[in-house]
Amino acid sequence: MKILITGGAGFIGSNFIHYWMKKYSQDEIVNLDKLTYAGNLSNLRIVENLPNYHFIKGDITDKKLLEKLFKKENFDLIVHFAAESHVDRSITDPDIFLKTNILGTHNLLCMALKNRTRFHHVSTDEVFGSLKKNDPAFNEKTPYDPRSPYSASKAASDHLVRAYFHTYELPITISNCSNNYGPFHFPEKLFPLFITNLLENKKIPLYGDGEAVRDWLYVEDHCRAIDTIIKKGKIGETYCIGGNSEKSNKEVTYKILALLDKNEKMIEFVKDRPGHDQRYAIDFSKIKNELGWEPSVSFEDGIKKTIDWFSTNKAWWKSIKNGKYKEYYDKQYANH
Ligand code: NAD
Ligand code: TYD
Repeated sequence: MKILITGGAGFIGSNFIHYWMKKYSQDEIVNLDKLTYAGNLSNLRIVENLPNYHFIKGDITDKKLLEKLFKKENFDLIVHFAAESHVDRSITDPDIFLKTNILGTHNLLCMALKNRTRFHHVSTDEVFGSLKKNDPAFNEKTPYDPRSPYSASKAASDHLVRAYFHTYELPITISNCSNNYGPFHFPEKLFPLFITNLLENKKIPLYGDGEAVRDWLYVEDHCRAIDTIIKKGKIGETYCIGGNSEKSNKEVTYKILALLDKNEKMIEFVKDRPGHDQRYAIDFSKIKNELGWEPSVSFEDGIKKTIDWFSTNKAWWKSIKNGKYKEYYDKQYANH
């Protein structure tokens, strides 16, 4: 099978490439990635010299490049990860989110349609909005109610993917997953930011009262869920993926502090994120009952594995936490 993976140099995309090439070593993978600030080819050192792995630096909003690529290659499957993915950046600079997440996805759909290529769209639970404490968890029937420029752009992309199924019968599936954590996570998000700050003996900025809740899934479990949907999912369907691990940010923070032998003096409560979604939770019974997937890594084990990875791969994140990243960090946390 020849697979086009978009955004394969990012956090989940690179984990997915490792997962897939280990399990399906005969398949050919083409990784198309723009290498934005979040894309990092050092995530792919282990596979970069394999004869069945190819990297193309390119932008999914560049139609000409896509046309050339699709004329040359005949893909059996597209797994679409490429996106602008950080909520805080979408608040300060929304334009690029609309361009990449909406127009970029649409360009890929147009290309897929020409060859009727199977298309899996990787999306987020954030499209469903924000839950109150006792609300039932999101499921596939929950109405969309995105509240940040990031989630609104992902919601729009989901609608386009579904429209291409209903209108043109393009063979698509969509997954809406909760928050991931694990190796190669860019240190702007909660987990890698807090772990790496603490490893550098720096304070950790907890937004608001720290009571916002997220559901956490170890990234390899997400990769396995996407694999399950690709192999066994029903065309045209959406699947919600979750970790069965709802935690407040404070709980996550205290857990990380304890595992790194630090105390709560390292926490700096900072101004809340504008429009901060209070709670995400996922009911993943559809994928569990219909396709037999469920998370396999517990939160306890996942957090230990993740801290271990960041502790032994200091060179990876230290080279990121320089230059442009420092500029972003100082600006992002300046007014808090
Ligand atoms: P990431 O920001 O770590 O990586 C995104 C990758 O896409 C980077 O390699 C970047 O260079 C590339 N990219 C960005 N714009 C591009 C463009 N115009 N053309 C080509 N490549 C481009 O993101 P991630 O956390 O790995 O998320 C991957 C996907 O999974 C996204 O679609 C995201 O919405 C979704 N998702 C993420 C999470 C999470 O917790 N991180 C949860 C659910 C769903
Ligand atoms: P994040 O990792 O940005 O993921 P998302 O907003 O997509 O869920 O944030 C996870 C939670 O952690 C969210 O409730 C915001 C909070 N958070 C902080 O408290 N401090 C921070 O510095 C960051 C980046 C996030």
